Amino acid sequence: MQCRVCNTEIHPFMTFGQMPIANGFLTADQIKDEYFYELAPAVCGNVICGMFQLMEQPEPQRMFHENYAFHTGTSKYMDAHFKAWAQRIAPGSHVIEIGCNDGTFLQHLKARYCDCVGIEPAKNVALIAQAKGLRVRAEFFQEFARTAATQVDYILAANVMCHIPDINGMAKEIARLLKPHGQFIFEDPYLPDMLRQTSFDQIYDEHVFMFSASTVKRAFAPHGLHLIRCEPQPVHGGSMRYTLSPVNMPGTKGLEDTLEREAAISKNAYWHFAERCSERREAINALLGKLNGAKVVGYGATSKSTTMLNYCGLGPNEIQYIADTTPIKQGKLAPGSHIPIRSYEEFMLDYPDFAILLAWNHAAEIMAKEKKFRGRWITYVPNVGIQ
Ligand code: TYD
Ligand code: ZN
Repeated sequence: MQCRVCNTEIHPFMTFGQMPIANGFLTADQIKDEYFYELAPAVCGNVICGMFQLMEQPEPQRMFHENYAFHTGTSKYMDAHFKAWAQRIAPGSHVIEIGCNDGTFLQHLKARYCDCVGIEPAKNVALIAQAKGLRVRAEFFQEFARTAATQVDYILAANVMCHIPDINGMAKEIARLLKPHGQFIFEDPYLPDMLRQTSFDQIYDEHVFMFSASTVKRAFAPHGLHLIRCEPQPVHGGSMRYTLSPVNMPGTKGLEDTLEREAAISKNAYWHFAERCSERREAINALLGKLNGAKVVGYGATSKSTTMLNYCGLGPNEIQYIADTTPIKQGKLAPGSHIPIRSYEEFMLDYPDFAILLAWNHAAEIMAKEKKFRGRWITYVPNVGIQ
C-alpha cells in the first residue's frame, strides 16, 4: 500500500481488526449483508510527509449516501461554533463550503451576506440544507470542481478534508478555485490531541487521515497552498483549524510554536499509543464486567463509538441500548455491535443505573443538560472510570 500523499510504501503500526461502516446504522434484515473492512492505521515513513492514514478505506459511496446519519445541527455547541467561525469571514465574500452537511455553517455565512455554495455528496443532508433555502450541490467536490471555474474568496471545510483520500487532487482544485488573495480554511480532529488522550475511537472509516500542522503544511505546499495559521478548536474531541493561502507569507507565532511541539513527538509515540489502546480495551471490559446486572445504556450513537464498541467486543448484553436524538438513527441497530438505538425520551423517562458517555466530545453540553440524571456516568476518554 502506498502513501496517499507521497506514494512511499506504508505499513500499519496496529490493527483494530474488522470494522463495519462507522455511520452504517442498520435494520435487523440488513445484518446479513453488513460490510466489514480492516481498520488499521499507518504513518508514512517519508520524513517530508509523515502523514497518518488508514491502510484501507471503504469506497466513498458506502459511507456518504442518501441515508447518511450524521447531522451537524444536532449539537447546540456545534451550531455556536459555526456561528463564531462565520463572524471571522469577511461579510459579502464569495464562499464555497466543502461538505456542508445540513447547512448549519452556510446559514451563519448567509446571515453575513456571503454568497455561498455548499457541496454535499450525502443526498439526505443536502436536501435538508436546500430546504432551508441554501444553494447546495448534492455531489462530491471533485465532480463539482470538474465544471466550476469561478474563483472565490474562501473555501471552507469542517470535518471533511480528513475524509477524502485524493488529497493531491483536492488541493489542486482548491488552489485553482481560490482568488490570488483568497483563503482555504479547514478544521479536523488533531492528531496530537488524539495521541495525548488515547482517543482511539477517532479512528474510523471516514477519517482516512488524521492531520497535524506539520503534515498539512507539507501536503499542501507543493500545490501552492501555504499554511499560515493554525488555531486549536475544542470540538470533536480536539481539533485544529488550518488557514492556507496561495501567497507564501510567514506563519503566525502560534503556528511556529505548534510546528515545534509537533517536531518533538517521537516515532515511538505510535507504538505507545497502540499499547495504550489495548490497555484501554481491557480496562473498559473489566469495568463493565464488574457491574453485574445493572442497567447500562450508551449516550450518543456517535460514529466514534463504532470503533470503541467493536474493538472492545461489546454488544446488547453489555449495553442495553444507545440513546440518541438523531431521528434517522433511532429504531436502528449500531453498526457491528447491533445495540439498538432508542430515542432520547426513552433515556429520560426511565433512567438507567449507568450511562456510558459515547458522545464524550460533547461532555460539557451533555453534563449541563443532564443535571437530573441520578445514575452514574461511565467514561473512557481520556480515562476509563465511573463519574
Ligand atoms: P458527533 O459529535 O457528530 O460524533 P461523531 O463524529 O463521532 O459521529 O455525534 C454526536 C451524536 O450524539 C449524534 O448522533 C447526536 C448525539 N447527541 C445526543 O444524542 N444528545 C446530545 O445532547 C448531543 C450533544 C449529541
Ligand atoms: Zn507519505
